[in-house]
Amino acid sequence: MASSVSREFPFVPFILLLILIITSTAAEPRSVAAAAAEDPTPTPWPLQFHSVLFMNKSGALQMIDLWYDWPNGRNFNIIQDQLGKLTYDAEWNNGTSFVYTLDSDRECKTLYPGVGILRPNWLDGANYLGQRYIDGFLCNVWEKVDFIWYYEDVETKRPVHWVFYTGRHAHVMTFEVGAVLEDAGWQAPAYCFDEQQRGKERNPAAGRIESVVGVRRSLFG
Ligand SMILES: *[C@@H]1O[C@H](CO)[C@@H](O)[C@H](O)[C@H]1NC(C)=O
Ligand SMILES: *[C@@H]1O[C@H](CO)[C@@H](O)[C@H](O)[C@H]1NC(C)=O
Repeated sequence: MASSVSREFPFVPFILLLILIITSTAAEPRSVAAAAAEDPTPTPWPLQFHSVLFMNKSGALQMIDLWYDWPNGRNFNIIQDQLGKLTYDAEWNNGTSFVYTLDSDRECKTLYPGVGILRPNWLDGANYLGQRYIDGFLCNVWEKVDFIWYYEDVETKRPVHWVFYTGRHAHVMTFEVGAVLEDAGWQAPAYCFDEQQRGKERNPAAGRIESVVGVRRSLFG
């Protein structure tokens, strides 16, 4: 009994070691190749959705209602500054955007950013950076042209968070796939079409560049 144990004992680790070496050398080149080929890709945006975004740029807070509507070629950012201004930013795929208030100030700027709204697959070609936790969700993370860092929930594939190069953070609070804002909601007020108000600003200010058109302008413009 004792002699049989002492005779067989050294062989067990040797065989284990041999198996380890064989499997690890065989597996390694394959797993490296597979990792590059199988990097996850961002889920394209749904053709229509409504999302509430909580924005934070160095403590300046905003809530944004985002209505993305690709089939109708339009995108809406309704931007509420904390205890402040409510701004409507309706962007059309024909390259025109209306940025206005609906209060007594009756402000409106018509912008011609020169590009339409983001395509649903606008994240194609983004660089995969791996997985990280953000806002309590395990996410796949991509970066595109040093402009945006995009976090998508590993499990549900919904966007969770994105960060612009300026340090402005968007936390995705709701994400309603298929929700569409009725046509009447998109109508810019009459004063947007007054001659005096029209068409002056062809080079949108830096603050606006982070809207969806702004993203598109930076990525493709
Ligand atoms: C906003 O971001 C700043 C960092 O830029 C952080 O200190 C602050 O806690 C954030 N505020 C909220 C409400 O998340
Ligand atoms: C683009 O579409 C919007 C909404 O239909 C319209 O108000 C605007 O005049 C159009 N712009 C151009 C340049 O056709």
